[in-house]
Amino acid sequence: MPASPTRADCSARDAADPLRDLPARFVPGEAGTLYFDANSVGAMPLAARANLARIEGEWQRLRRRGWSESDWLAAPARLGAKLAPILGAGADEVIVCDTTSLNLFKTLAAAVALRPGRHTIVSEAATFPTDLYVAQGLARFRGGVTLRLLQEGEPIEAAIDGDTIALYLSQVDYRSARRLDIHALTRAAHDKGALAIWDLSHGAGAVPGDLDAAGVDLAVGCGYKYLCGGPGAPAWIFAARRLHDAIVPALAGWMGHADTFAFPLDYAPAPGMARFLVGTPAVIANAAMEAACDIWASVDPHAVFAKHAALGDLLIALVDEGAAGPGVGVASPRDAAQRGGFVALRHEGGAALVAALGEAGIVSSFRPPDSIRFGLSALTHRYVEIFDAATRLGEIVASGRWRDPKYRKGKSI
Ligand SMILES: Cc1ncc(COP(=O)(O)O)c(C=O)c1O
Repeated sequence: MPASPTRADCSARDAADPLRDLPARFVPGEAGTLYFDANSVGAMPLAARANLARIEGEWQRLRRRGWSESDWLAAPARLGAKLAPILGAGADEVIVCDTTSLNLFKTLAAAVALRPGRHTIVSEAATFPTDLYVAQGLARFRGGVTLRLLQEGEPIEAAIDGDTIALYLSQVDYRSARRLDIHALTRAAHDKGALAIWDLSHGAGAVPGDLDAAGVDLAVGCGYKYLCGGPGAPAWIFAARRLHDAIVPALAGWMGHADTFAFPLDYAPAPGMARFLVGTPAVIANAAMEAACDIWASVDPHAVFAKHAALGDLLIALVDEGAAGPGVGVASPRDAAQRGGFVALRHEGGAALVAALGEAGIVSSFRPPDSIRFGLSALTHRYVEIFDAATRLGEIVASGRWRDPKYRKGKSI
């Protein structure tokens, strides 16, 4: 059995890390605090300040002329092209706009229209609630469409048949970080003539999306998590190039029109991904998001995925060695290839432990019933930070400090 990693080992790994200069491209958080909430709101890129200052100036000086004299309208496609490599997509297959929930609706509505005569959307009961609500809403609105939800352990492939419109799944389970095999499941959907729709929110920027290599039809994801686009950042949406011309969006808006400023009476979809745009782009949010997109466009995705896996493996090794204290277990898959963006630990203290950790300068997040999530970022985390977090967690658990009644109100935000 290999010896337990020491802090010196971790420092040596940081020194040899090909991505070691990236943390300096982000604004440091509060002194002494270690942030493991990349799964919720990723770190702030330094360049976001300059981008936001530029927009402030344009707002002040240009006002309406910003639409024609600045690049505001081109941002959704430009940002999408910069994100595409980390998602494993072509530059013309991704566009940044709206929220993940809205984009989920767009993908489902497109799928329903692309598979006339079929009636079922197959998903998992444990998928993220907004994904379910959107599908339920679409089914209520459209009629003739039903949602089949698989319970834990039910084989997904076996649920797909000739009546399936789409397999509609989250790549990564938001409680455990279990990662589904995008390649195998997309193939299984296609074997039955169904489409494959993926929500990559807990994977994009951390683990491979492989959208083109896996033959995925439609996909979405949050911009604010591992992608570091900022609080409430716009989401992204992907559609395989082969489907573009066949999709006439249900959420047809003027920004997705082929000739927006001619103001024609009838809708005609814009070429390519631009048809997924609905209304006026969120110029300020896009400016912040672009700082992150520029970082993504400059990194080697393989290096990001390799480091991300290594960070998770290190945390798991430290927990296994007892560094995180007695009673702390690993709730995520041990095999990095089956794990998404975060590592979930399990402890009876759950929410109270997350609250106590927060007070000790370690930001993690809680999901019921007992999942303590450590979002890991290959762009911002150093190996020593993983070591320090595990050690601090170990101190809190061993001392029983988390049992203090003041931590009882811990909640899952
Ligand atoms: C898998 C998944 N999908 C969607 C969302 C939320 O989407 P929205 O940006 O529309 O709030 C989340 C939020 O955490 C999520 O985890």
